[in-house]
Amino acid sequence: MRFPGAHILSVTQFERADVERIFEVADSMRPYAHRERMTKVLDGAIMGNMFFEPSTRTRVSFGCAFNLLGGEVRETTDIKASSLTKGESLYDTGRVMSGYSDIIVMRHPQAGSVAEFARASRVPVLNAGDGPNEHPSQALLDLYTIKKELKSRQQNIDGMHIAMIGDLKHGRTVHSLSKLVSLYEKVKFTLISPKELAMPDTIVEHLRQRGHEVVETEDMETGLVSNDIVYLTRIQEERFASKPEADLYRGRFRLNRSIYTQYCQPNTVIMHPLPRDSREDANELDNDLNQHPSLAIFRQTDNGVLVRMALFALTLDVSEQIDKSSREVNWYTERRF
Ligand code: NCD
Repeated sequence: MRFPGAHILSVTQFERADVERIFEVADSMRPYAHRERMTKVLDGAIMGNMFFEPSTRTRVSFGCAFNLLGGEVRETTDIKASSLTKGESLYDTGRVMSGYSDIIVMRHPQAGSVAEFARASRVPVLNAGDGPNEHPSQALLDLYTIKKELKSRQQNIDGMHIAMIGDLKHGRTVHSLSKLVSLYEKVKFTLISPKELAMPDTIVEHLRQRGHEVVETEDMETGLVSNDIVYLTRIQEERFASKPEADLYRGRFRLNRSIYTQYCQPNTVIMHPLPRDSREDANELDNDLNQHPSLAIFRQTDNGVLVRMALFALTLDVSEQIDKSSREVNWYTERRF
């Protein structure tokens, strides 16, 4: 695909070569994200960060990624505080807001909403999650993390075994991630969920058509065996008609140290898009794994900055100019890990 000026709305826009290009640019962002060097390549640029659904890491890491490239961020949060509550259409909002920024990042509870907004926008729009539909930047940072984790084990994405666990019906991260992984070869997907929360058929079909093996099960113990990656997800409470309905499923699948030790391979990578639901009755990923070397959840969040910087650099076409406008930082930068 051609990145400059493009909207990033769905992972289906990408070919494998595009994904590799994003990862290559993400790698080159490391010194800037780690504060070894700084750049002002986006000096003067404005990003509109529009979040109409709760978010911590996606909103902040997109903002921080833009700042790290030298640009400024304007935040719009809370649907109630915007004119959308006065009946304004997404089209009008898109037309207007794109006059105030050079690029827009948007999250909204409705599937397809970000694409509708983008049709009216005069500047690139990046989808930060449109309801249960897609979350392309999360899928990219997840796959980038998978690639790094597997590389440290002398393995590749091609041929990997990945288990996805939890609310696969409403979880936009697993929708986008499985479609993105489908660009690779011969992957085995084990989809572990209650039947009612299974991965949409269209996605399962798509994976099979591309030659991947898909196993769907409600049995976590057998599903956990022989995976390179286990990717847990939260029950997406906000997508259910009522909380009691969501409660039927919360806590059904939990990973903790003893289950991991009993069923997973010794170095299976543990992932989760976060937030994990740490309340007693849910707790899909227990704190007793926090010190486990295979727990990659905080490496995922760190990688999110690199990948989002890469998306800005590519869509605003500055990826070749970054080093030219860079210098060392002045402050103390050593990080504690
Ligand atoms: C996810 C999301 O919003 O889809 N979070 C994220 O962006 N990292 C997952 C979730 O909310 O469960």
